[in-house]
This record gives sequence, structure tokens and C-alpha cells, in this order.
Amino acid sequence: MSLHLHRVATFSASILIGGLALTACGANEAADSGSGDSAEGGATIALLLPESKTTRYEAFDKPLFEAAVAELCDDCTVDYYNADQDEAKQQQQVTTALNAGADVLVLDPVNGAGATGMVSEAQGQDVPVIAYDRFIAGADYYMSFDNETVGQLQGEALVEAMGDEGNILMLNGAPSDPNAAQFKAGAHSVIDESGLTILEEYDNPDWSPENAQQWTTDQLSKYDASEINGVYAANDGQAGGVVAALTGSGVALDALPPITGQDAEIAAIQRILAGEQAMTIYKPIPIEAETAAEVAVYLANGEDVPDTTETGVDQTEYEGVASFIFDPIIVTAENVADTVIADGFYDASDICTGDYADDCEAAGIS
Ligand code: GAL
Repeated sequence: MSLHLHRVATFSASILIGGLALTACGANEAADSGSGDSAEGGATIALLLPESKTTRYEAFDKPLFEAAVAELCDDCTVDYYNADQDEAKQQQQVTTALNAGADVLVLDPVNGAGATGMVSEAQGQDVPVIAYDRFIAGADYYMSFDNETVGQLQGEALVEAMGDEGNILMLNGAPSDPNAAQFKAGAHSVIDESGLTILEEYDNPDWSPENAQQWTTDQLSKYDASEINGVYAANDGQAGGVVAALTGSGVALDALPPITGQDAEIAAIQRILAGEQAMTIYKPIPIEAETAAEVAVYLANGEDVPDTTETGVDQTEYEGVASFIFDPIIVTAENVADTVIADGFYDASDICTGDYADDCEAAGIS
């Protein structure tokens, strides 16, 4: 997988041209261990991500954020923490980050509602908090994609693929994740008005692919696979679990029902090209990570955050918190080339490996 950091470079150049005083001088020492070591003198930015089973976090969010901070601020340090879906661990990581002298927290909470205490703890020490990707009430800033639209796009694609009739299973995200409720609401707004029947619905407590596979396998003891005409899976990790459960019960790969997803994980793009998944949602993470880095550097240096960022995003408000909201993009076999590949999110060679080479050719991807 290749990360196309030219975006970061372009962004940084525009900041220099814009003449903004974002960059302080000194040694560029990015700590990556979460040990809390900070470079002498420069600001410390703590990046706290929720889990690592969804590939986006460590493959995109973390490296893109670190690269953007390094471009914007020579002597800033990024301390990175991953909570592995464990709220108590994330709480400890917040305390560790604050004790290590973090000047700003960029926090993607395991539990959105549970993280308000972490925000108070930080703000009590005059450390601002950016709620990254998932909303936290009382945060100083929030940035995410339009999550209700994500759910709507998923629901519409499923209805379209199924021809407006048939039975579905519905796998939502973790109830502790505020985005999951928005994806679910968006999807229901479409599915409930359609001719589809929801056989069973499940809020997967940790988003895990394994749990999605187990739950789907359990449903297959109640329903014959032929009765399941489609599956709403809120993200690609879960879609992978659904495919494993269905094929494990004897459904042939070319006889899978339409299955949705989200995150444009490489395995999902391959399944889409092979006809094993109907769609995914591509959230261009560079814009999210780079906007977060820009706002974090302003805050860490005690500067005002502009109404429109250098990444070109206008500030709005969400539930009383200053926010930056980005647009999600639907991906089907028809537009893989025009979206994730044209954008440089993936190279064709990342996707068109092994047996997928033929599928790529059929889709005109080379
Ligand atoms: C959501 C996020 C998705 C996906 C999911 C699983 O909050 O918006 O992109 O990563 O969590 O962790």
C-alpha cells in the first residue's frame, strides 16, 4: 500500500506561500512510541486512536497525521497511542499524554459519551481537545465525515442492488461509537422506506470482524442462507466477517448476496471488483488527518484557528462544537478507478494482486 504524501507536501507549500507563522524552528523529533518522551522546547501533540482492527487507523490516519504535523511544525512532537478498543486503556493513555506534557489532544474516542471526562481532564490543565472522527460533547473542535450521509449511501446502494425487495441482515457498529448511531440512522432512513425486510439487526459491540462473523453464523442456524438476500454491514471489516460466515456455511463466492461496507479497505475494494461486495464508502482520510494536524498545530502554538483551513474546509458547528465536516464518497466496481485510484489512495498494483488481476482488467483498471 502506498501513501501519497505529495498531498501533504502540496498542503505544506501552500501554507508557506500563505505566509502563516505555523512553523517553529528546531529539531524534528517525532516520538512514535507513546512513551511520552517529548522533544525539548517544541510543542507536543498527542494522537489517540481507538483501535487497530479497522485498517484505516494505522495505515492512514496515523502516518498521514504525523507527516502533516512534521511538514507544518519542525519542532513539534507527535506522541501516538492506540487504545485497542479498550476504554480504560484510553483513559490511562489520556492521563499519560497529559503527564508527558501534551499541549493538545487529538482524541478519537472508543466511547464518545464516556470521553467527556477525558475532555474535562485535559481542559482542566488548559489542554484543548480535538474530537477526531467521533464526536465528544464539550471538545474544543470536532472533525469527521458526514456520517448520516454515509449510512444513507449504504442503504441506497443496498436497495438498488436488491431491487427494492427481499430479506436482509443488518450489522451496525459499536453502540459506544457515536458515528455508529449516525450510520445506522442514515441507513434506516432509506431501508425503512424501501420494500426490504430486516430479518435480524445487531449492534456489534466492538466493530470486530470476528464478532460479525460469529453473529452471522448464528443467524444461519435460524435462517437458510437462501433466505438472506442482502446484508447491511456498516463497515468493511464486518463485511469481511459476513463473507467468511456465508462462505463457511457453503455459499459460493459467486452466489453471495449484496453486502455493503465502509472504509475502502483494500480487501473490500478487491471483493467489490470480484463481485463479492456491493459497495464501500471511501472517506478520503488525507483531508481529515491533514485538517486535524493543521488545527492541532495552531492550538499547540497558541494561535487562532481560521474559519477556513489551509486544507480548504470551512468551519461549521455541530452540537455546539466548532467543526470541520468532510464528504464521503460511494465506491462500486464502476468507479474504483475514478475514486481510490485516481485520488492516489491506492495504486492499481496494491489492488490487482493474484486472482484480482483479471477482475481489475475487466473493470478497466491497469
Ligand atoms: C467509525 C469510523 C469508521 C470505521 C469504524 C470502525 O467511527 O468512522 O471509519 O473506522 O469507526 O472502527
